[in-house]
Amino acid sequence: MNLLDKFHHWRRKRRWDKQYKSGRWESLQSEKEAGRYHTIISFIAQYAPSNPSILDIGCGDGVLTQRMDGDSYSHFTGVDFSKVSIDKAKKKRFPNSEFITADAITYKPERKFDVIVFNEAFYYIHDSEKANVLNRMLNHLNDNGILIISIYREGTGCWEYFKEDPKLEELDFTTVTTDEELRYWKIGCYKPILSSKW
Ligand SMILES: C[S@@+](CC[C@H](N)C(=O)[O-])C[C@H]1O[C@@H](n2cnc3c(N)ncnc32)[C@H](O)[C@@H]1O
Repeated sequence: MNLLDKFHHWRRKRRWDKQYKSGRWESLQSEKEAGRYHTIISFIAQYAPSNPSILDIGCGDGVLTQRMDGDSYSHFTGVDFSKVSIDKAKKKRFPNSEFITADAITYKPERKFDVIVFNEAFYYIHDSEKANVLNRMLNHLNDNGILIISIYREGTGCWEYFKEDPKLEELDFTTVTTDEELRYWKIGCYKPILSSKW
């Protein structure tokens, strides 16, 4: 990112903090959004190793963790660059979880995970950093691990990072709709193709 991009990035981070402080994102807990979380959770149940470790990039205040059964994962790490959202997630005291204030652009996981989720977060990453962030996260995915991406509406400029990556195989892809025509999400589930195959 150039200096101007870095400035805008910093301003966006401050805006997220303000919005979490004002309660604007409490709407993510509404039933209108539930189908998206349920689909992610069912992909985890269907395609991930049992009792997986999970990394949620751009986790906000932990709505995905909240919607999961605490017994269904061995470990949950949530990362978000909004400290306000992370403080809110920490207050919920989820079992076997840690929540870290960090920017996806620079965050280096300290371990590998069975599941890595970008739940309505990938499109916020600056275009010049998307490939770097994705590759760094893929390096922290276990061999039999999966990657889950949820993107609001069409996700122009995002899906090609997953659908056209020869290192990834698509396991599932679905559209979650609601009673509002323009409120829908596309959700994909991918696994890395082991390097010996390409
Ligand atoms: C629409 S919210 C989704 C929150 C959560 N994933 C959910 O669906 O409940 C997008 C989140 O991405 C976070 N975010 C955006 N850019 C980020 C970045 N570069 N690093 C970490 N988090 C980021 C925001 O702070 C915000 O919490």
